[in-house]
Amino acid sequence: MTKNLWVVANWKSNKNIAEALEWISLVGPKVERRDNLKVVVCPQFDALEEVKRAIQIANFPLLVGAQDLSPFTEGAYTGEESARALSDFVDLAILGHSERRQNFQETNEIVGKKTTQARSSNIVPLVCIQDSDTPVPQGVKLVAYEPIFAIGTDNPDTPENAGRIALALKQQYGEDLEVLYGGSVNADNCQSFIRQPNLSGLLIGRASLSAEEFGQIVDKCTYPHGS
Ligand code: PGA
Repeated sequence: MTKNLWVVANWKSNKNIAEALEWISLVGPKVERRDNLKVVVCPQFDALEEVKRAIQIANFPLLVGAQDLSPFTEGAYTGEESARALSDFVDLAILGHSERRQNFQETNEIVGKKTTQARSSNIVPLVCIQDSDTPVPQGVKLVAYEPIFAIGTDNPDTPENAGRIALALKQQYGEDLEVLYGGSVNADNCQSFIRQPNLSGLLIGRASLSAEEFGQIVDKCTYPHGS
């Protein structure tokens, strides 16, 4: 079976609805429809509905992800976004990003609860781990290795080390664990990560904000050895 190739755009708190829709209209037509190519865009919560609708109307081969979700079920949790409500719009949710662990005191236990909520609403949990010691919650099959020194810094890990960590994670959690790399990925370095046999894709912050650069990344990753 051909392995999946995930290219995930994490916009963080950057785009309003108009900017999000413009990006979709530029990137959508450039993405090839292939079973194993999973291009995912993760907007802020407020843009999810419109982004989902724009993708459906144009029939673009893009998936939609949330950047977080509530550790609780629906109910009296003011301000939280429940997995059940999000599942109307998203296929996947980024959980345990280091910015949430640092700025919002998110613990491994909370990440575990969010994972349970995601899975109970058929949302794929994409759990971010900062090193190979960060626990991967039970049942998770998609993780992103994102070392803190590499996030937002222009100082990516080496593809070889990212590949080594991916192999170690697969040995620990099972061969069917898909491991992405994230941290200072851009159009120049994306192919070197994709060529690592144990990596299944990329989680991209800053370089995903430009539709042009993200389109280049998807193209280069689709044809890592030249088209
Ligand atoms: P960066 O962010 O690509 O801007 O380094 C990656 C991330 O935080 O997922």
